[in-house]
Amino acid sequence: MGIHQKKVAFVEEKRMSGQQNISIVGMGYVGLCTAAGFASKGARIVATDKDQQKVDSINKCKAPFHEPQLEEALRKATKQSKIKGTVDLEKAILETDVTFVTVGTPSKPDGSSDLGQVQEAATEIGKALSKKEGYHLVVVKSTVLPGTTENLVKPILEKQSNKSCGSDFGLCMNPEFLREGSAIYDTLHPDRIIIGEWDEKSGDTLESLYALFYKQQKIPLIRTNLPTAELIKYANNAFLATKISYINTIANICEKIPETDVAKVAEGIGLDNRINPRFLRAGLGYGGSCFPKDLKALIALAKQQKIEATMLEAVQKVNTNQAKHAVELVKKEVGMLENKRIAILGLSFKPDTGDMREAKSIQIINMLLDEGADVSAYDPVAVPNAKAIFKKRISYATSALNCLKDADCAVIVTEWNEFKDLKPEDFIASMKQPIVVDGRKIYNPETFTKKLNYKAIGLG
Ligand code: UGA
Repeated sequence: MGIHQKKVAFVEEKRMSGQQNISIVGMGYVGLCTAAGFASKGARIVATDKDQQKVDSINKCKAPFHEPQLEEALRKATKQSKIKGTVDLEKAILETDVTFVTVGTPSKPDGSSDLGQVQEAATEIGKALSKKEGYHLVVVKSTVLPGTTENLVKPILEKQSNKSCGSDFGLCMNPEFLREGSAIYDTLHPDRIIIGEWDEKSGDTLESLYALFYKQQKIPLIRTNLPTAELIKYANNAFLATKISYINTIANICEKIPETDVAKVAEGIGLDNRINPRFLRAGLGYGGSCFPKDLKALIALAKQQKIEATMLEAVQKVNTNQAKHAVELVKKEVGMLENKRIAILGLSFKPDTGDMREAKSIQIINMLLDEGADVSAYDPVAVPNAKAIFKKRISYATSALNCLKDADCAVIVTEWNEFKDLKPEDFIASMKQPIVVDGRKIYNPETFTKKLNYKAIGLG
C-alpha cells in the first residue's frame, strides 16, 4: 500500500468506524442474506425491493424463502433496529453511505444475461444520487458479465445523477460466493473477498467497510479492476461445475467396472491437495439458480468473442446426461414404466432450501411422466414450489414413508438428512418392490445391496 493509499484507507476507516449505513437493492437470496449478515456485523441496513409483499414480510421477520438461520438473524437485527425493509429506493440511498446492488440477472433464451433489473436499479440509484450530498459508494454484487459495471452501470449512474464516478460517488464490483442452504454462515465467514474497483478511493472505502466487519478473521482480500472481479465470479462457478461433471464422468466409468465406487475414488483423489475433496460428490449433477445460468452466460460470451468453449459445453452436456442416466437405471430395474409407481425423494436442487430452479427433480420427473409412470414425490420444504410446476400431474406425499407406499422404485434426488436416516427395512416395508436408485449416493452400498435391489450412481 502506498502512502496516499494508506492515508485514504485511514480516512475511510475513520469514517466507516461510526455507524455503517448500508442500503441493499433487491431482496433475493443474495440481497436478503447479505442484509441479515451485515446487520449482525453491526451495520444499519435499509433493505429495498420493488415487491411490497416481500418488504412487508421482511419487516415482519418472515423470510420469503427457506434458508437456515435467516429468520433468526432477521429477528435479532429487527430487535436491535439494524434492519428495515422499504420500497422507497430514493429514501434508502439518501439515508445511507453505501449501496449494494443484488438484483437478479436471469438467462435470456440465447444464454446471455438479462440485465433489465441491473439497468433499472442503476437508473433509480443514479436519480437518487442527484439529490444526495456527499460521497456515496455503489457496489454491484449481482453476477454480471465482464464490462457490465463499467460500460452499463457507470454511464447510467453518471447520466442520472449528473455526477462524476470517482470524485462524486464511488463504484465497485464485489462478487458474492454464498451458497443457498448455508448463506448466513457464508456471509459471516467468507473464504475470500474480491473487490473490483473503478478507482482507488472506491476500493479503499469498501475495503474499510469489510475490515470493520471481518476484523478478527483475516479473510484474504484481492483488489482488482471491475472486469476482472466480474470474471472471477463466472470462472469460479464454472470451475466448480467442471469438478462436478468431471467426477460424474468418473462415476459413469465406475459403474462399468465391478467393485469400484466413485465415492472412494473421489476420496482418494481429494487427498491430493492440488485437487481437494470438495465438490467431488458424484450424483445427478448440479442444478440451482447459479451454475446452469452462469455457465450458459460464459459460453455465450465465449461464442460472441469467437472463442471455442468446448470444455464448458462438455460440462453442460455431462450434467444434462446425468438425469437421463438415472432414468435409464430406473428402467433397467423396473422395465416399462407405464403405470409403474415411482417415488421421488427430494425435489429441491439441493438440501436445506426449497428452491427448485433447474432442480434435477424437474428433469427426472418430466422424463418419468413421458414414459407413463405414476409419480409420487416428497420433499421436506419444496412441495409448494413443486405444486406450482407439476400441478396435478404427480401426487405429493407428506412424509418419506408415505411417498414410498406401494412404489415400484424409489429415486433419491436430493440428499436431505431425513432421507439418510431411512433403513433398508423402511423401503422393504412400504414399497411394492424394494428397488432404490440412489442419485446422491447417500446410503452405504454394502448394507443396502445385501437387503434390497440397490443401484447408485457411480457404483460398479
Ligand atoms: C453456488 C456456489 O457454490 C456459490 O459459491 C455461489 O455464490 C452461488 O452458486 C451463486 O453463484 O450465487 P449454490 O448454487 O447455492 O451455490 O449451491 P452449491 O452448493 O454450489 O450446489 C450447486 C449444485 O451442485 C447443487 O445442485 C448440488 O447438488 C450440486 N453439487 C455440489 C454436486 O452435484 N456435487 C458436489 O460435489 C457439489
